[in-house]
Amino acid sequence: MEINKLGIVGAGQMGAGIAQVAASAGIDVWINDISDELIAKGISKITKSLEKLVSKKKITKDDAEGIASRLHKAPGLGDLAEADFVVEAATEREDLKLMLFDKLSKITDDNTILASNTSSISITRIGSATQRPDKVIGMHFMNPVPVMKLVEIIRGLTTSEATTQTTVALAERLGKTCAYSKDLPGFIVNRILMPMINEAIYALYEGIGKPEDIDTGMKLGANQPMGPLALADLIGLDTCLAIMEVLHRGLGDSKYRPCPLLRQYVDSGRLGRKTGRGFHNYGE
Ligand code: CAA
Repeated sequence: MEINKLGIVGAGQMGAGIAQVAASAGIDVWINDISDELIAKGISKITKSLEKLVSKKKITKDDAEGIASRLHKAPGLGDLAEADFVVEAATEREDLKLMLFDKLSKITDDNTILASNTSSISITRIGSATQRPDKVIGMHFMNPVPVMKLVEIIRGLTTSEATTQTTVALAERLGKTCAYSKDLPGFIVNRILMPMINEAIYALYEGIGKPEDIDTGMKLGANQPMGPLALADLIGLDTCLAIMEVLHRGLGDSKYRPCPLLRQYVDSGRLGRKTGRGFHNYGE
């Protein structure tokens, strides 16, 4: 099945990143969010990213204009009715995703595949919110989407082989490599990555080191491209907390308990780069 019209729900950093790579691959993209302002913000983020690529001579001005022309605003979910494939990249909240999938399955054609970019919530449960769980799949992109090569593919209990093949073909068309994970909390990447980030936050909480030292330690001592606290700031501390809560609840092991300091930062509104401040300061 050839994908020509892609719907994206959520114009935040993940949704905008997915829209950018899809439009760059020649696919027309319809972007939805809860307000026109958020959609416009997402599109403006993409055009800025394209301008950077032009200034680095990675793409031409014509390429950038072509890509931008394939980005369309979808102010209502109903504007995604004609999509061949929808990727949901909304906030990491289960009640929200269940509501969106219920609505999307009613709005779109019965053949439209509904993928979630969830980083940890059960695909089987999301599929159960629809009348066609065989067409529901996890398609988990990594942040920053234009740079990171991986897409995790997660099949729910009844996701069909055809749905999987179409999703993998789409991911490959976007230049990504797929890794397959069972539908268990956190899948592969976050099951391993998030406890490491949470442990780094415990190291800060217990006063083992300052944020700079924790990050320098892991960057230069373990060859990570960026330190775990800087990575938490990039991902968003609210997202990190939501994932730790899914791991803790879903696996029932106390080793996944979110660090109290992470919760406190989220409560205070320090969510990382997107709010200008997290474990590091980005000039609020
Ligand atoms: N969008 C587009 N391009 C970007 C970008 C962005 N947001 N951020 C960086 N880049 C590009 C830069 O333009 C640069 O491109 P060129 O080499 O062509 O000039 C390249 O990426 C490298 O960037 P920088 O030189 O600025 O900095 P860097 O070398 O430190 O790389 C990084 C930045 C790619 C983010 C790197 O630090 C990195 O790989 N960090 C780890 C990221 C990671 O682990 N992501 C996964 C998070 S987990 C997740 O997403 C799953 C989840 O569910 C939470």
